[in-house]
Amino acid sequence: MELRELTDEEFDLLYPVKIKKLSGTHWTPVGVAKKAIAYLGEGGGKSVLDLGSGVGKFCLVAAVNSEAKITGVEQRMNLVQISGKLAEKYQVENTNFICDDLRNLDFNQFDSFYFFNAFEENIDLRDKLHKDNSINHEQYHAYKKLIRKKFEELPVETRIVTYCGDASEIPESYRLIKSGNKGKLKFWEKRV
Ligand SMILES: C[S@@+](CC[C@H](N)C(=O)[O-])C[C@H]1O[C@@H](n2cnc3c(N)ncnc32)[C@H](O)[C@@H]1O
Repeated sequence: MELRELTDEEFDLLYPVKIKKLSGTHWTPVGVAKKAIAYLGEGGGKSVLDLGSGVGKFCLVAAVNSEAKITGVEQRMNLVQISGKLAEKYQVENTNFICDDLRNLDFNQFDSFYFFNAFEENIDLRDKLHKDNSINHEQYHAYKKLIRKKFEELPVETRIVTYCGDASEIPESYRLIKSGNKGKLKFWEKRV
């Protein structure tokens, strides 16, 4: 079956059991990814960055449902490798994965952004992605502040979709265009 036809349950089965078990907490549901990319990729030819791409679920679903070029940046190499292998296996050519701290990227290279609460692991230890994860409120707030500054510096009409979280990383210069999924999914655009 083609990747774009898979349900959430079918998609999660593509992952190793340990990774699949984390899906409810950490990986974007298929339906959410489709709604997000419809907005982020609108107009065609867009370059989209997933901030903290995990095992690539958002990126892969977004890529097979749009013409956009989807980049995922993820700090954990084992997760990047899983993403890359799936992209290769299913010949998804409009996505690529970078192993790095998302703070190191130049956001100006992208038109729009997807942010699923990547820093939550610093304040919530449920379903840990790494055994060494620990609570670090200071780091959580520092990360949020840093990407807020990066978003602030981007041009008018930049689009962001946030999923879960309090959206405190979104500067006042962005307007909430719409929301969905009981308010968990928010669609933003930078205004003058
Ligand atoms: C909630 S998961 C979302 C995964 C993916 N975006 C999706 O929706 O399927 C957040 C991911 O962000 C990653 N992450 C957290 N802080 C990061 C950082 N500073 N740089 C890069 N990745 C980070 C975590 O390792 C985790 O895989």
